[in-house]
Amino acid sequence: MVDLRRARCLLAAGVLLASLVGGVGAGDDEQFVYSGFTGAPLAMDGTATITPTGMLELTNGTPQLKGHAVHPAPLRSRSSPGGPVRSFSASFVFGIIPPYSDLSGHGIVFFVGKDNFSTALPSQYLGFLNTANNGNDSNHLFGVELDTIQSTEFKDPNDNHVGIDINSLTSANATTAGYYDDSSGAFHNLTLISAKPMQVWVDYDGGTAGISVFLAPLKMAKPSKPLVSATHNLSDVLVDPVYVGFSSATGTVRSFHYVLGWSFAMDGPAPAINIASLPKLPRFGPKPRSKVLDIVLPIATAALVLGVVAVVVALVRRRLKYAELREDWEVEFGPHRFTYKDLFRATEGFKSKMLLGIGGFGRVYKGVLPKSKLEVAVKRVSHESRQGIKEFVAEVVSIGRLRHRNLVQLLGYCRRKGELLLVYDYMPNGSLDKYLYGNNKGEEEEKATLDWVQRFRIIKGVASGLLYIHEDWEQVVIHRDIKASNVLLDSEMNGRLGDFGLARLYDHGADPQTTHVVGTMGYLAPELARSGKASPLTDVFAFGAFILEVVCGRRPVEQSMSDSRLMLVDWVLEHWQKESLADVIDARLQGNYDADEAVLALKLGLLCSHPLPGARPSMRQVMQYLDGDMPLPELTPSHLSFSMLALMRSEGFDSFVMSSSAVSIGTMTGLSGGR
Ligand SMILES: Nc1ncnc2c1ncn2[C@@H]1O[C@H](COP(=O)(O)OP(=O)(O)OP(=O)(O)O)[C@@H](O)[C@H]1O
Ligand SMILES: *[C@@H]1O[C@H](CO)[C@@H](O)[C@H](O)[C@H]1NC(C)=O
Ligand SMILES: *[C@@H]1O[C@H](CO)[C@@H](O)[C@H](O)[C@H]1NC(C)=O
Ligand SMILES: *[C@@H]1O[C@H](CO)[C@@H](O)[C@H](O)[C@H]1NC(C)=O
Ligand SMILES: *[C@@H]1O[C@H](CO)[C@@H](O)[C@H](O)[C@H]1NC(C)=O
Ligand SMILES: *[C@@H]1O[C@H](CO)[C@@H](O)[C@H](O)[C@H]1NC(C)=O
Repeated sequence: MVDLRRARCLLAAGVLLASLVGGVGAGDDEQFVYSGFTGAPLAMDGTATITPTGMLELTNGTPQLKGHAVHPAPLRSRSSPGGPVRSFSASFVFGIIPPYSDLSGHGIVFFVGKDNFSTALPSQYLGFLNTANNGNDSNHLFGVELDTIQSTEFKDPNDNHVGIDINSLTSANATTAGYYDDSSGAFHNLTLISAKPMQVWVDYDGGTAGISVFLAPLKMAKPSKPLVSATHNLSDVLVDPVYVGFSSATGTVRSFHYVLGWSFAMDGPAPAINIASLPKLPRFGPKPRSKVLDIVLPIATAALVLGVVAVVVALVRRRLKYAELREDWEVEFGPHRFTYKDLFRATEGFKSKMLLGIGGFGRVYKGVLPKSKLEVAVKRVSHESRQGIKEFVAEVVSIGRLRHRNLVQLLGYCRRKGELLLVYDYMPNGSLDKYLYGNNKGEEEEKATLDWVQRFRIIKGVASGLLYIHEDWEQVVIHRDIKASNVLLDSEMNGRLGDFGLARLYDHGADPQTTHVVGTMGYLAPELARSGKASPLTDVFAFGAFILEVVCGRRPVEQSMSDSRLMLVDWVLEHWQKESLADVIDARLQGNYDADEAVLALKLGLLCSHPLPGARPSMRQVMQYLDGDMPLPELTPSHLSFSMLALMRSEGFDSFVMSSSAVSIGTMTGLSGGR
């Protein structure tokens, strides 16, 4: 048994210090307040202890034990020896954590009197009294009991009552725990073992000998009507000096009895406890736990289910977002295959700010490949039929092996449902047509145009690229859509032929006789318009139109105001006949050009555009003429017999021309069989 008297001596210094610094257990001998007990210099014995969170734990769940906590300084209950006991006032916040929601034991007593409870008993004696001294006036004890067990020997009204005890556990007055509502006056029950904090006020009025006890839930103000009261002159009970404190005991039922805050004053109201800084009652025991499970578990479960669903949805969406078509036969093309995810990332999700342009087959986006940081152009081509896709992909891959400085390198492809993506080298300077005649949206602002040296180099470059695919590669490749908009300019303004590989997709399986003519008006060789059969010489025809286009800075077919069509070839030919060829050369060059080269280019352009395929030169010859390695055959306008054109136009070709729009009808690229 701890000797409280000695503990008091040891702790007196602590009280002094605490009062000096105005700490938690502040106050003089006459009054004090503890809002939480961290560092409080209480004298304790038995099971009493202060928890790390600052609660005064009177019992700790051990059965049949008692604990006491006493303010260490003795108090003078009388202002003068032999005089009447002064008024005093106490308040405290307590909480009882029961082992079962409906059963607990035994209770707490707030007392004024002595500080030696070594002979007191636990259980129904509440660590306060014992069998021998219960009811003996020589105890000199006043107490307020919070009793959670009904002990009939002490005439307890029930197992949830508050009683005023004077030297005896048989209360002078006792009643069910609760409070009277200030506004309605109605009585509200409170359950002492509810594991909720509650506040008690105990007042003794020395003038009237009235004792009043109040109880209320935490955070509620002190009720004006007491829960229980008694009139007893404590001058006949207490002897100086008096000690104030708490006694608590467990019986066979093990409970935790806590005091969270406490204040006391002689001759005045007890100081207010700072409710906000009180420690929190621990949440345990079956009741709080079941509540935790009841509320938290369904929420946690729902959150988990929602989370899982969200993750699954996200994964499925991701799969769909990046879904591709992949078939067995594509395995051999593996290295040329791009993942859709990479292309999606490269183009920032095919954002419109990455759009380079819209062509006859679909949109072209700029992109930067995630791993290699290589700049690419991604063309999205929609295709509905699966038919021919295999041959087409085979061609794409085979064309991907074409490597020439005047060809736009095809890097690979990707296939999705109804969509094919082609990946090309990015050409920073865009397509040639923009430099020749600005935007076709009528923007007549003078865009940076090309000087003669650049133009002639582009013509030679495209010719060399065309020669390569016609003759220098392992297969004959026909481009089928040579035109200024399909010539792209690299960083050094070299012309590079682009737009390979789309024809088969549209062409495949069709009867050559009925194949709809794919190509761009003005570039279409007459025999191609009639038969639909492409050959290297139909490419040469288009190349002729292309040369004239570059030199004159005009489109091969121009719609004039009077709705008559201006055929560039006819116009150039006319000027040749009138010997005014210099007039057709692009005025934007402002006369700065090599006259020999310009005339050579114009004549070559006309020669290539000869309506009779047999009269056209091969690309090898074209190259030689351009390089000056071979002189252009002596030509006269009549020699070119362009009157044939008129004949042709009156036959079918013209009706074709008339029925088609002035823009691209489509693109056609193809491989004819190996040579
Ligand atoms: N490799 C590339 N690098 C940079 N820009 C490109 C590239 N490929 C295409 N473009 C841009 O995208 C636009 C559209 O290209 P696309 O080849 O689809 O259309 P087109 O050649 O105008 O018409 P068509 O499809 O009838 O040949 C071009 O005008 C060009 O500005
Ligand atoms: C406390 O009371 C017991 C029993 O009456 C007694 O033996 C003991 O000496 C007391 N302690 C002090 C410090 O007075
Ligand atoms: C009360 O206690 C005193 C001292 O402990 C003792 O002498 C007396 O007999 C007790 N009285 C009763 C009625 O038990
Ligand atoms: C309060 O508790 C008492 C005793 O358990 C009971 O008789 C009474 O009906 C209760 N009153 C209310 C309002 O719950
Ligand atoms: C209480 O008792 C004391 C002394 O016995 C006396 O002086 C005082 O007047 C009494 N108080 C009341 C309110 O009766
Ligand atoms: C017991 O307390 C109640 C409530 O304060 C009061 O109404 C009643 O008169 C008291 N009984 C006695 C005997 O003092």
